[in-house]
Amino acid sequence: MSKINDLGIAKLIYDGKTTELPVFEGSEHEKAVDIRALRKETGMITYDPGFVNTGCCKSDVTYIDGEKGILRYRGYDINDLAEKCEFIDVAYLLVHGALPNEKQHAEFSSNLNLHSLLHEDMRHFFDAYPDHAHPMATLSAMAVSLSTFYPELDDISLQENIDYKVTRLLSKLRTAAAFSFKKSIGHPIVYPKRSLKYCENFLNMMFWNPVNDYEVDPVLAKALNKLLILHADHEQNCSASVVKMVGSAGANLYASISAGICALWGPLHGGANQHVIEMLQRILTEDEGDVHRIIERAKDKNDPFRLMGVGHRVYKSYDPRAKVAKQMCKDVLATMGVNDPLVDLAQKLEEAVLADDYFAERSLYPNIDFYTGLTYRAMGIPTNMFTVMFAIGRMPGWIAQWLEMREDPHGRIGRPRQIYTGHAQRPVI
Ligand code: CMC
Repeated sequence: MSKINDLGIAKLIYDGKTTELPVFEGSEHEKAVDIRALRKETGMITYDPGFVNTGCCKSDVTYIDGEKGILRYRGYDINDLAEKCEFIDVAYLLVHGALPNEKQHAEFSSNLNLHSLLHEDMRHFFDAYPDHAHPMATLSAMAVSLSTFYPELDDISLQENIDYKVTRLLSKLRTAAAFSFKKSIGHPIVYPKRSLKYCENFLNMMFWNPVNDYEVDPVLAKALNKLLILHADHEQNCSASVVKMVGSAGANLYASISAGICALWGPLHGGANQHVIEMLQRILTEDEGDVHRIIERAKDKNDPFRLMGVGHRVYKSYDPRAKVAKQMCKDVLATMGVNDPLVDLAQKLEEAVLADDYFAERSLYPNIDFYTGLTYRAMGIPTNMFTVMFAIGRMPGWIAQWLEMREDPHGRIGRPRQIYTGHAQRPVI
């Protein structure tokens, strides 16, 4: 696809010299100034901590309009995908660029099952971690460990092996995630089953045990499919950028994804879903359910505290994923007959945020992490597994972004510059 229009030139005038910089736009008319020649022409670099205003690539994968609250994968609206697709269709779409037909869907599903077992030696890794190990640490270790079991797939020129890598990562890391949960509660692990679909298989590995037989509830399987679709990609976010940065050095896909999992773990990124629940629990126990005290803390410039699950770098209106997640949370709780005081509290907190000038002036709204944790909680998934769920969902996005980067003929190693502000040269005394 890669639709680009040249729009002429922008002029930078500095110190009496005019430098001409090309301007172009993408398929949704977002404009960019191409500054690649800036340093050569002027000796200057651009300065943009946090990459607030820096485009690092042209991409066909995901489109976001943060002002209008639009999110599309490969041109399809997130609401449409969440309503009509299974997670594996969306994974296929992100990686291959088109939704699968029935035959492709069946093949992909069967391949995911074929690769779902972990090598038995990897199973023993779980025994070496303490019970309280955070499952994000284990997941990242398992991702990079896959490269030791399948080193023949490290060769990036072997394009025909990409499907194997993709299915191995999607399938085996889901299995590893369920194993890490079983390990943390001291229960025997449950192997994946050929007869179950991707999300059903995960739920079975999480909740089946030898004394309590477990039947996958279709409501939960549907909810999980939707949640993973909401997580599936978000263009050049922190973890995707990490995956690409590591991959740009020539590191293999497993190593790149392992690094991305670590980035996602951070509380300002995917880790926020765990912190939202912990914050709500603290409001309930320490502040007797009074949301205003915590709002005042979040607004206090002398307090580093931030409201978890609120605000976003790109969305300056309601996060479209949060809208879907909020409705889904209500539906899952109603169907399962769960009455969770944290949900009422979350709604109160959201109302207080939306009514407060501080948040309105800064365009801060609930983000995806505000309601997804509450839904995972209702499904029986423990709090420290929430970010793992996000990682399983984000896997196809990371892979799609990594592949696009690798296939880009203009791709180069990621290597930002800096303005040095330290000592001038000085002698050692
Ligand atoms: N609570 C209170 N104030 C906030 C918050 C918040 N959650 N988020 C931003 N602000 C304020 C911030 O203090 C600043 O105020 P001022 O202009 O007076 O200095 C202003 O809003 C802009 O904030 P920023 O830090 O410049 O924004 P950013 O784009 O660098 O950060 C963010 C985005 C998501 C890290 C931030 O909003 C945040 O820390 N949110 C809470 C953590 C969270 O929920 N993260 C999940 C993000 S969505 C899922 C994902 O990306 O994985």
